[in-house]
Amino acid sequence: MNTLRLQLRFLLPLLVTLAVAAYLAVPLMDRLTQRWFARDLNLRGELVANTLSDSIADALKTPSRGRLAGLFRRAAKDERLVAIGLCSRDDNELLQHTENYPPDLACQDARAAAAMPSPVLQIEGGPVHVGVHQVMSESGPIADLVLLQDFSYIGKRSQDTRKYLIVLITALGAVIALITVVVAQLSWRGWVSGARALLRGEGLIRPITPPGELAPLAADLRMRLRDLEDEYRRSMGLEVPWNAEALRLLLRTKLRGDEVIVVSNREPYIHDRAADGGVVVRHPASGLVTAVEPVMRACSGTWIAHGSGTADRQSVDSHDRLRVPPGDPMYTLRRVWLTPEEEQGYYYGFANEGLWPLCHVAHVRPVFRESDWDFYRKVSQRFADAVVAEARSEDPIVLVQDYHFALLPAMIRARLPKATILTFWHIPWPNPESFGICPWRREILEGLLGSTILGFHTQYHCKNFLETVDRYLEARIEHEHSTITFRRTETYVESYPISIEWPSPEQQASWRPVEECRARTAKRFGLAPGQRLAIGVDRFDYTKGILERLHAVERMLEKHPELIGAFTFVQIAAPTRSSLEEYRFFQERIERLCARINERFGSGGGAPPVILVAEHHEHDALMEIYRAADACLVTSLHDGMNLVSKEFIAARSDEQGVLILSRFAGAARELTEALIVNPYHVEECADTLYQALHMPPAEQRERMANLRQTVREFNVYRWAGRMLVDAGRLRQRQRIEERVLRHSAG
Ligand code: F6P
Repeated sequence: MNTLRLQLRFLLPLLVTLAVAAYLAVPLMDRLTQRWFARDLNLRGELVANTLSDSIADALKTPSRGRLAGLFRRAAKDERLVAIGLCSRDDNELLQHTENYPPDLACQDARAAAAMPSPVLQIEGGPVHVGVHQVMSESGPIADLVLLQDFSYIGKRSQDTRKYLIVLITALGAVIALITVVVAQLSWRGWVSGARALLRGEGLIRPITPPGELAPLAADLRMRLRDLEDEYRRSMGLEVPWNAEALRLLLRTKLRGDEVIVVSNREPYIHDRAADGGVVVRHPASGLVTAVEPVMRACSGTWIAHGSGTADRQSVDSHDRLRVPPGDPMYTLRRVWLTPEEEQGYYYGFANEGLWPLCHVAHVRPVFRESDWDFYRKVSQRFADAVVAEARSEDPIVLVQDYHFALLPAMIRARLPKATILTFWHIPWPNPESFGICPWRREILEGLLGSTILGFHTQYHCKNFLETVDRYLEARIEHEHSTITFRRTETYVESYPISIEWPSPEQQASWRPVEECRARTAKRFGLAPGQRLAIGVDRFDYTKGILERLHAVERMLEKHPELIGAFTFVQIAAPTRSSLEEYRFFQERIERLCARINERFGSGGGAPPVILVAEHHEHDALMEIYRAADACLVTSLHDGMNLVSKEFIAARSDEQGVLILSRFAGAARELTEALIVNPYHVEECADTLYQALHMPPAEQRERMANLRQTVREFNVYRWAGRMLVDAGRLRQRQRIEERVLRHSAG
């Protein structure tokens, strides 16, 4: 029906134009052909007159007209010559004529008719062309010869021409109409398939290119939607107080209870076999888990992760699922099993020996092995299968976490084209040159560009990513809207600084008072009363700047020997990726350095200047240490964000304690009241540590109060909320586009 209407819109004006053309062209053509034929007959008459002139002149010299009559009779045998007459020039007398000459056609009438633009007369036998031609003698014109030539065949020819012309115009019309119909059909199909693509959910990932007349409208619509989105995003800024309830509300309203699936390598709860044969539940030392877990508690859904605990298999149901948190179930954890070879290749190999040093640029060489890459791809496919298996709808919201799954977004997109895929890259993104050394740089970028939204901690990392895509892929980058369109999939690249859950008043009330924390910590580490304490809390990773901070401690003690015996630095380092040589060497190096510093500055009886605790600590134990410390050192050489800095701030409800923060951690962009340092600059770090230990309580309070305000507002619910708000608006846009297309199609 729509096709027919669309075609009629083209065809009707075309047919009307053709009819008007035919109406005007046929009489015009008629007149023209008659004029051409009349001119031909005139020339022919002229020829006949010239031929007969001499004979007529001779015949006129004789008194008898018999010779003249014979001459005319012979001439009139020409089938086109209907009649001949001869008029005298002076008295208009008809001197001689053939038998068929019309009796009522006087000489002057014949002359008048011949002078007309269309010298045609209707006589008894039909239409005749009238021509009057001079008969010349040596002395000049002596008479006028009137030739009446048959014109009926001309009328017939002109009728034929008219017929041909009408046939020609009709044929032409038919051909043009046919072409129009074909073009309209093709373009209509373009529309229909475009609309279908949208209905299949490809509208967002494959921008529709509406044909011809609707293209400007669609472009306009898209522009307008984007402007509205920008306004909307601005309006969703700081004003909204983000907490678990706000996030739940967002999911219920803006996302209408849509299904949320998280995919990460690290699982939030690890079941391990205990020495006594029982099972213990561990919480991993992971910034990612710290951030995503409260979000999952708020929005339920399913979290898919690698089941890495020694008792993980015995804690799941037959579908490899279990409800967590244990004892207070709020969402589903779905475990994916990997063989030791797969874990080695995908996690230790490609992710942690390749991508981790590649993105951190912390002077450890990335290692890229073909076999690791194969495992990385294979495991990604396994997780993509798990996402498809867990999805209850065709358009879930899938939150893909981190560098372990760069290929996953495109794999999910291929199987669930309508899914909204939010990928968050928890580590830094390097500049194009650094990234360029990865042999599979194109594949990684292509995988990530299957995402609807790709998030980084900072604007700087977004910029690096856009430049990297620009360097290595043929993609359309719109800096104004921060989007990349690759193979007709649009990815929105944005910074979402990750954070922690701000402790609730109940949680804060459950904490031990600061004095008690100090006392317990002092006891644990053998600190003397009043001994100053600085801490570092990290995974045992070479990117964390542990070595550099120990050098700073050593330098401070060198510069300020009065602090020897009065100051201790405690480094909590959770073992991580220990099966990798680089990490083992690093740990050994730190242990040696600690031993050397203690040897150098140990005071005999009291606590040593540095204490290394290479153990995993649960959250409560960390809170106690955070609350006991005078200063916390976060000196990462490069860090996406660093949540230890935010945890320390959250723990300091007494508004005391000083944060020393690396300028190369993403957190430095937000936590500006911290003492910001260059971790490579040992002297500066040593002086800053000294400054922290001597900072007056009032200044500590002022700084800490501001820092707490920032972390409270810019909490993890805001991080997730902003991403989900963006997901919501993109889903909304997709729906509006679908509706508009459906409307214009119907
Ligand atoms: O920094 C990236 C990250 O995934 C963090 O989110 C997390 O703290 C850490 O790496 C965890 O590493 P892993 O899971 O290898 O122990």
